[in-house]
Amino acid sequence: MQIHTDIPILDDLDAPKQVSATAPGKRKVYLETYGCQMNVSDSEIVASVLKSEGYGLTHNVEEADVVLINTCAIRENAEQKVRRRLGELRAHKRRNNPDLKLGVLGCMAERLRENLLEQEKLVDLVVGPDAYRDLGNLLGEATDTGQAAVNVQLSKEETYADILPVRYDTNGVSSFVSIMRGCDNMCSFCVVPFTRGRERSRPVDSILDECKSLVEKGFKEVTVLGQNVNSYRGESVDFAELLYRISMISPDLRIRYSTSHPKDCSDDLLHVHAERENVCNYIHLPVQHGNTAMLQRMKRTYSREQYLDLVERARKIVPGVALSTDIIAGFCDETQEEHQDTLSLMAQVRYEHAYMFMYSERPDTYAARKFEDNVAEDVKKRRLQEIIRQQGVISLESNQSEIGKEHVVLVEGLSKRSDEQLSGRSDTNKMTVLDRSDFGKGDYVKVRVTDCTSATLIAEPIRLYTPGS
Ligand code: SAH
Ligand code: SF4
Ligand code: F3S
Repeated sequence: MQIHTDIPILDDLDAPKQVSATAPGKRKVYLETYGCQMNVSDSEIVASVLKSEGYGLTHNVEEADVVLINTCAIRENAEQKVRRRLGELRAHKRRNNPDLKLGVLGCMAERLRENLLEQEKLVDLVVGPDAYRDLGNLLGEATDTGQAAVNVQLSKEETYADILPVRYDTNGVSSFVSIMRGCDNMCSFCVVPFTRGRERSRPVDSILDECKSLVEKGFKEVTVLGQNVNSYRGESVDFAELLYRISMISPDLRIRYSTSHPKDCSDDLLHVHAERENVCNYIHLPVQHGNTAMLQRMKRTYSREQYLDLVERARKIVPGVALSTDIIAGFCDETQEEHQDTLSLMAQVRYEHAYMFMYSERPDTYAARKFEDNVAEDVKKRRLQEIIRQQGVISLESNQSEIGKEHVVLVEGLSKRSDEQLSGRSDTNKMTVLDRSDFGKGDYVKVRVTDCTSATLIAEPIRLYTPGS
């Protein structure tokens, strides 16, 4: 019973995470989550709504009366994966439980309601990301009428601020806290503004209250979530101020966030990183591409040079800051030279880590309407492979340069390989494995790095660390 909260690599983004638990209730719901961390966080809202409506949750699809799939539409293969899964679940319904209600939630619900419902008669329930409060009614309606129930209305206000997420994050150490929803950026390749609607921020006090209650429950880390967290606007509080206020709750609480847009990465925000020890020394700063003309076509609102200036500023204000990025290979009209600019930018910045994707055309987006998806599939693949290979070398070199250095690791639990080892992440977000010794989950441990792979640091523990000391 676990949500996999690691930031997924590549198309792992499309791999399902199960939010599941058994709770008393009349009818049992099985909930499976695809896509980004926002969806995982939303599933915790869904679980909360359902629980308050008297539903139980189960991790066993066989004993479920209701099966809900929280879906992702970011790339074609994400949708295909969900469609295959829906096919399997429909077969299960036909064979074993004709009364089962099958529902699609989240980003595909917005995009495909007509297909899913009317043409393909695939599901009994279609619920968009702003309509989860209505889940109880919709399930009741689908059960009573035998007809499909739909609510894909997007909202300009909904932030679920008052709903206490039901957390199944069994590590009990780190948790997501959603602070805003939607996106107004309209990057030309991206479907998110269509699936999640307008940007809106959750009130400051409800965010601070949730963080405080997590600290009281013993959590040691929050990852503040939104499609574009650094455009947060809560009353008179901007994102830098919000982070600062969260960081003042307890020195024992680490703060990360995901994901940020370079255009909103202010110096104030960088100073909060520098001044507050518990605001992690790590920024995910998706560049998408290394060529200015491509960035313009992508509607990213910055040039290569402006982005590189920002990286320089970040490294000056926040010494030792670790950076990661998202990259798209093979976007419309990309030439070989433009592709080389992505490689050269990545070589120049030397990200600790990157999430790398092949462009996938999304219906209704600006790019789908105005540009041609004209880079051949094999060229896209080759370019992506070149990007991945180069980043692999950089990640390995970056980890090798850590050998001999000291870090503070927050232990998340036993390592996957051995009960004699623990795993956790450094301040700079590097997955680190260390000998168990007398340490345990939730401890901050000062370590010295002794070895590495391109994905993991191996370290020896030095001593327990008290934040703020
Ligand atoms: N709001 C986040 C991005 C969310 S989507 C941000 O702006 O940082 C995560 C990543 O998926 C994007 O950064 C982008 O690299 C990738 N992506 C989005 N649309 C895509 C598409 N049509 N094809 C391929 N990758 C895409
Ligand atoms: Fe998509 Fe751009 Fe918004 Fe990110 S900022 S969700 S890439 S439109
Ligand atoms: Fe996917 Fe929706 Fe997230 S499209 S990446 S689940 S916002």
